[in-house]
Amino acid sequence: MARVSGKVAIVTGAALGIGKATALLLAREGAKVAVADLKADEGHAVVAEIEAAGGEALFVPLDVSREEDWTRAIAAVLARFGRLDIAVNNAGIAYAGTVESTSLDDWRRVQSINLDGVFLGTKAAVAAMKDHGGSIINLSSIEGLIGDPTLAAYNASKGGVRLFTKSAALHCARSGYRVRVNSVHPGYIWTPMVQGLTGESPDQAAARKRLEALHPVGHLGEADDIAYGILYLASDESKFMTGSELVIDGGYTAQ
Ligand SMILES: NC(=O)c1ccc[n+]([C@@H]2O[C@H](COP(=O)([O-])OP(=O)(O)OC[C@H]3O[C@@H](n4cnc5c(N)ncnc54)[C@H](O)[C@@H]3O)[C@@H](O)[C@H]2O)c1
Repeated sequence: MARVSGKVAIVTGAALGIGKATALLLAREGAKVAVADLKADEGHAVVAEIEAAGGEALFVPLDVSREEDWTRAIAAVLARFGRLDIAVNNAGIAYAGTVESTSLDDWRRVQSINLDGVFLGTKAAVAAMKDHGGSIINLSSIEGLIGDPTLAAYNASKGGVRLFTKSAALHCARSGYRVRVNSVHPGYIWTPMVQGLTGESPDQAAARKRLEALHPVGHLGEADDIAYGILYLASDESKFMTGSELVIDGGYTAQ
């Protein structure tokens, strides 16, 4: 029996990276998947890959920072699949800057996607799930657990996701909804986001090595390492888990 058989999922930022790996894995494990992203071409390619493997999927255009996009996206999922059981609030952007170098505009841009986007996605998912239950998974980071002087806005957004997740989890539990809300905290994963960060450096290979050395296991993670954790939280295997943090980081925060 597939692990999320019969469930309907929406995954934001599902055109690339961790979101793409998650959408493919949830589909492989029996879920019908709404692939939500700004990038239509890459998103449609993920849908085609799921359909070619015999699964069901739908591309949903979505800017997670816009409430009206969320209203349209959830309506499209309900119209096509009739319900929503799993929401993975994965879309996010990286931004390197210290407290001194970060402008207010850049700070607000990061919060609007990484934090407002998770708030809006959780709010929309709770409304769609509260009558029958479900699982909401919010992507935080190791940067939501420990500080980095060069990631001021990103640290703030991911720390916000961590504690907002607990607030929403407690609200759902105390309201008697069978809706669980958990956060996931990856270490550095080799995705287009991290390739973009190392790509800014003149010696990319050396930049990757520096990142690898931060992880006690000696290497970066792969998108599937995170997707398997999200699959566990999405499935009923984690039915006693809410308001928790799943850290998948090669030992980064154990030091
Ligand atoms: N890669 C890592 O090392 C790492 C580590 C910790 C946490 N994370 C978090 O995991 C999540 C996914 O990261 P990734 O590395 O796969 O990123 P990525 O840049 O490789 O992919 C992000 C996806 O999100 C989409 N996106 C960006 N802004 C959006 C918006 N406003 N609305 C809808 N979609 C939008 C992009 O189009 C892209 O498809 C992010 O929240 C990130 O902060 C990543």
